[in-house]
Amino acid sequence: MSGLLSGARTAVNPLRQLTIHQLRQRTSLKWREYPDDVLPLWVAEMDVPLAEPVALAITDAVARGDTGYTAGTAYPQAVAEFAARRWGWDGLAVERTALVPDVMHGVVEALRLVTDPGDAVVVNCPVYPPFYESVAHAERRIVEAPLGEDLRIDLDALGDAFRRARAGGRPAAYLLCSPHNPTGVMHSAAELTAVAELAQRHGVRVVADEIHAPVVAGGARFVPYLSVPGAENGLSLMSASKGWNLAGLRGGLLVAGPAAAGDLARVPFGVSVGTSHLGVIAHTAAFRDGGEWLDAVLTGLDDNRRLLTALLAEHLPAVRYQPGQATYLAWLDCRALGLGDDPASVFLDRGRVALNSGLAFGTGGVGHVRLNLATAPELIIEAVHRMASAVG
Ligand SMILES: Cc1ncc(COP(=O)(O)O)c(C=O)c1O
Repeated sequence: MSGLLSGARTAVNPLRQLTIHQLRQRTSLKWREYPDDVLPLWVAEMDVPLAEPVALAITDAVARGDTGYTAGTAYPQAVAEFAARRWGWDGLAVERTALVPDVMHGVVEALRLVTDPGDAVVVNCPVYPPFYESVAHAERRIVEAPLGEDLRIDLDALGDAFRRARAGGRPAAYLLCSPHNPTGVMHSAAELTAVAELAQRHGVRVVADEIHAPVVAGGARFVPYLSVPGAENGLSLMSASKGWNLAGLRGGLLVAGPAAAGDLARVPFGVSVGTSHLGVIAHTAAFRDGGEWLDAVLTGLDDNRRLLTALLAEHLPAVRYQPGQATYLAWLDCRALGLGDDPASVFLDRGRVALNSGLAFGTGGVGHVRLNLATAPELIIEAVHRMASAVG
C-alpha cells in the first residue's frame, strides 16, 4: 500500500496537511454531526486548509471592514476567465449572470423562472438528495429518469421522463447534475449535445447544476452545458463551493445562455443582494487565483480514487465501485454484502464510520453508500478497515 501513498510531489497535497486532531476541532457539519469515535466521510466538505489566496482575500476584506452588501461583476468575470482557461469555453457572458446566495437557492430561483407551481422537474436518480427537497420547496414535482446500469444518462429514460413531464402541454424543467453527484460521472460533449437536442424536441428547459465542475480527475476536461449546440436557452449554476471548500462562505452564480437572458432579467433584486459579500470575495479569489491550489487537490484526489479502488479490492471485494472522472465522491454498490437496504446504518453502528445512505438519493440508491474521498489517505484506509470490520 505504501507505494500508493508516496508519489513524488512538487506541490503540497492539501488533503495531507491536517491531522485528525486538527479536524476534530472543526465546528462544521461534517465534524460535528457524529460523536468523536465516528470517522466522518459523509457530507461534501473537504478536509483541507483554506487555499491561501482565498484566506488572504477574506482577511484583507475583514481588515478593511469591507462587510457590506455585495456589488460588482468581479465574481462572474473570474468564473468566465476560469472557464476560458480550464474548459476552453469563452461563452460565459458576464452580462448574462446573476449572483445567487448559493447553488441550491439558485436552483430554486432558476426553476421558478422557467416553470410554474405544480409543474414537473426531471432528475436523474440516484442524485443529490436536496434536489428532491428543493423541488418540493419550490412547489414543483419530481419526475425521475433513472441513470443507466453504467451510471450514465439513459437517453431513452430521459425522453420518456420528458414526455411524462410535459403531459397536458405544461412547462417542465430538467435539473441536470453535471458532473453527477453521487456517481462522479462526467457527462461527455456528445451526451450533453444529445440532452440539449432531446430537451429542445420536448420543449423542456434545462437547469444545469455545475457546482462540481472544477473537481475533475487527471486528464479529464469538464464540458459546460451551455457550451454545447442546442443549449442556448439553458441555465447553469456555478460556484467555488466544492472546488475550494467554501460552503461556509456562501455564494453562487446563475448563468444564462443567450436565449435565456430574458428569464434572467426576472431574478428578483433581493436574491442577488442576498448573496454574502464575503462569500463573493472568497469565490472570486478562488476562481481567479486558486488554480495552483486546486491542481494540488486534484492530484491528491486522483491518488485517493486509486487508493480506494485498491483497498476495496483487498478488504471488501464484493463492493462495486466505478471511479468517476469528477467530484470527490465515491458511490459504492454494497448490495452483495447482504447488509440490507441501508448499509450506511450498519457501517455506522458496527464500524463507527459515517457515510451517506444511498436511500436519500432516490430510486437506485437502495444498498448503496456515498463515501467522501476529500480527506487524508490515512483516513480512507481507516474508513475501509472500519467498513470491513462491520461486515466481518
Ligand atoms: C450537486 C450539488 N449541488 C449543490 C450543492 C450545494 O451547494 P450550495 O451549498 O452552494 O447550495 C451540492 C453540495 O454538495 C451539490 O453536491
